[in-house]
Amino acid sequence: MRSTERWIAPLAIGAAALTWAACASRPATSGVAPRTARMMAHFERAGQLHAAMAAGDLDSVQIQARWIAANERGEDMPPKAQPYVEELHAFADLAARAPDQQSAARAVSRIGATCGSCHESLNRGPRYQVAGGPPAGGSALTTRMVRHRWAADRMWEGLIGPSDASWRAGAQVLRDAPLYTDALTTDVARYEPVTKLAWTVHELGTRAVNERDHSARAELYGQLLGTCARCHALLKGAH
Ligand code: HEC
Ligand code: HEC
Repeated sequence: MRSTERWIAPLAIGAAALTWAACASRPATSGVAPRTARMMAHFERAGQLHAAMAAGDLDSVQIQARWIAANERGEDMPPKAQPYVEELHAFADLAARAPDQQSAARAVSRIGATCGSCHESLNRGPRYQVAGGPPAGGSALTTRMVRHRWAADRMWEGLIGPSDASWRAGAQVLRDAPLYTDALTTDVARYEPVTKLAWTVHELGTRAVNERDHSARAELYGQLLGTCARCHALLKGAH
């Protein structure tokens, strides 16, 4: 969360109320089996990983990805789960060493998808449900960003679960995302690229709603995270 806050300040959103869902609740891990406790920690770190990626903070992406790899060595996992442990390490390594935003975003998305593949193969893991929709913010812009964040969180859970309902709920919100740019920037030079990025979010959401394949979903989500990161980088310091 620390490193994510670094980019919030220059953007001056003035809404400290916005915190990523993964950081909001931290269930107690005492009295819980070691493997379960480890998974709870993975979940928290994975939330920080994807928040850092949306913020375009590659230093934090590197730290979180390395932490996840170092803390998942496949203890107490059946033999058929071992390939997923290796896959997790491979994508964490790719994310940690990614030379640019888009390749980092792709690797981060693949980390989430690997969590989901292991859960699916073992028929274990979190069971996500979607209660309600995204909350409203104090202004048109914060509402829009709260909705982006809510949608990205649901789709991330959709990959990790994996959960069809979470994935679709998040994608639908992005599909319905507004396309106007006026509230985002008053800088004429940035208007066109920012509008294009807003369109990209909308378009990726539209494609994501109907995508059923886990791996194709991971690919789309990687593109989405890269789009969040690019717009935030573009508008950093613009206010
Ligand atoms: C078209 C540009 C654009 C795109 C695309 C975009 N954002 Fe943003 N985002 C902004 C701007 C601008 C702000 C800051 C608002 C301000 O401070 O005025 C912001 C702020 C945020 C914040 C507030 C930071 C906080 O926690 O307080 C979150 C969260 C956020 N965006 C999430 C996302 C996610 C997730 C995506 C991708 C699905 C995304 N955004 C895509 C422009 C964009
Ligand atoms: C190698 C297989 C494997 C991988 C990889 C894996 N998990 Fe799990 N996960 C499990 C198993 C098995 C359980 C059931 C744990 C238990 O309670 O014994 C589980 C359970 C969970 C739970 C539910 C914990 C609870 O409260 O009961 C969460 C959350 C979770 N995993 C998140 C993640 C995240 C996030 C990742 C990726 C960073 C991940 N997992 C990667 C196998 C895996």
